[in-house]
Amino acid sequence: MKSIEAIRADFPILQREINGLPLAYLDNAATSQKPLAVLQAMDDYYRLRNANVHRGVHTLSEEATTLYEGARGRIARFINAPSSKQVIFTRNATEAVNLVAYSWGLDTLKPGDEVLITQMEHHANIVPWQLITERTGATLRYVPLDPQGMLRLDLLNELLTERTRLFAFVAMSNVLGTINPVAELVARAHGVGALALVDGAQSVPHLPVDVQALNCDFLVFSGHKMCGPTGSGVLYGRRELLERMPPFMGGGDMIREVRLDGSRWNTLPWKFEAGTPAIAEVIGLGAAVDYLTGLGMEWAQQREHALVRYAMEQLERVEGLRILGPGPEQRGGAVAFTLGEIHPHDTAAILDAEGIAIRAGHHCAQPIHDFYGIAASARASFYFYNTFEEIDRLVMALDKVHSVLGI
Ligand SMILES: Cc1ncc(COP(=O)(O)O)c(C=O)c1O
Repeated sequence: MKSIEAIRADFPILQREINGLPLAYLDNAATSQKPLAVLQAMDDYYRLRNANVHRGVHTLSEEATTLYEGARGRIARFINAPSSKQVIFTRNATEAVNLVAYSWGLDTLKPGDEVLITQMEHHANIVPWQLITERTGATLRYVPLDPQGMLRLDLLNELLTERTRLFAFVAMSNVLGTINPVAELVARAHGVGALALVDGAQSVPHLPVDVQALNCDFLVFSGHKMCGPTGSGVLYGRRELLERMPPFMGGGDMIREVRLDGSRWNTLPWKFEAGTPAIAEVIGLGAAVDYLTGLGMEWAQQREHALVRYAMEQLERVEGLRILGPGPEQRGGAVAFTLGEIHPHDTAAILDAEGIAIRAGHHCAQPIHDFYGIAASARASFYFYNTFEEIDRLVMALDKVHSVLGI
């Protein structure tokens, strides 16, 4: 196993200084940093192989296509998809949810049907369902939270009924850190004949995910949160569903035949990939998956767990600091908190002066903040390359924030 120092050396940005101090990057739930292997894969594509995919018979196009489709195969293996045809490239998790909402949802939902989501969703898994239920006349329902930041699963019997067509839920909350019992929730959805969509934006980067073991119908995630580039995301879907679903967007590449009186669609996965895709980004994501596989996702999960446990122990000692969400055993790497009456933006600004990058705001999850009666929180979020020393610096800086601004 590589040392943490060697792993950190793989990430050029982690050598940076901010305001004369070493960068402590604790905003990984927003986006992760990228290792050299990813930067080099993208650089190699642009320098040596840049061409459009699927179209040319010339060498460059064939090389680009091989790299692009090779990444699909590696990503399929990473999540244990039965076939790479079930891995559809999108720009991000948000686009993947929208793909399901506009293709499956618009085609399927009708008045009387229900879509069930939860109060701990990122806006990416709320707003598309608000738009689609409004257009189809279906009803949107929510699983509420309890004060510990866990889902009220005791209410699931009432909320999940034969009217539910889809249960869409987050595997790991980007604010509360809560890890939901995904396989159990999928089984509960299937038990009433509903489909299950899993938002894996925070789980796929941080722990082993096996779509066959989870038995989910859809899984969405973003490349940029798992060492890959922005502009790369994935929708995994059950094959027979994807086969039946109409295209999301029309254009080049997604068709088999276009005539003036109509068109026929391409086969999976290309039916859902209209236009020139994000070729370099997908190749970069393939390299990111190789990198993560090299480290081992079990190892990454354990490392992060140790960091979070330590962070929570230390943070609880800061005067006035209140952590949102459950204890370390039930959560992943995101730790959102409030610090007395101090505005989270002020906290984040003072931390930035110390070289520490955290996030402040509602983290695209306003319903969670509404539940706690607050407008915003500060959030430190960890990845395997973070260190215990960075957590010590965070805690020292927060003590300073409290002593300067604390009321
Ligand atoms: C849980 C969760 N779902 C969805 C998203 C949306 O990801 P993206 O903005 O990459 O589409 C995020 C991003 O923070 C997230 O944390």
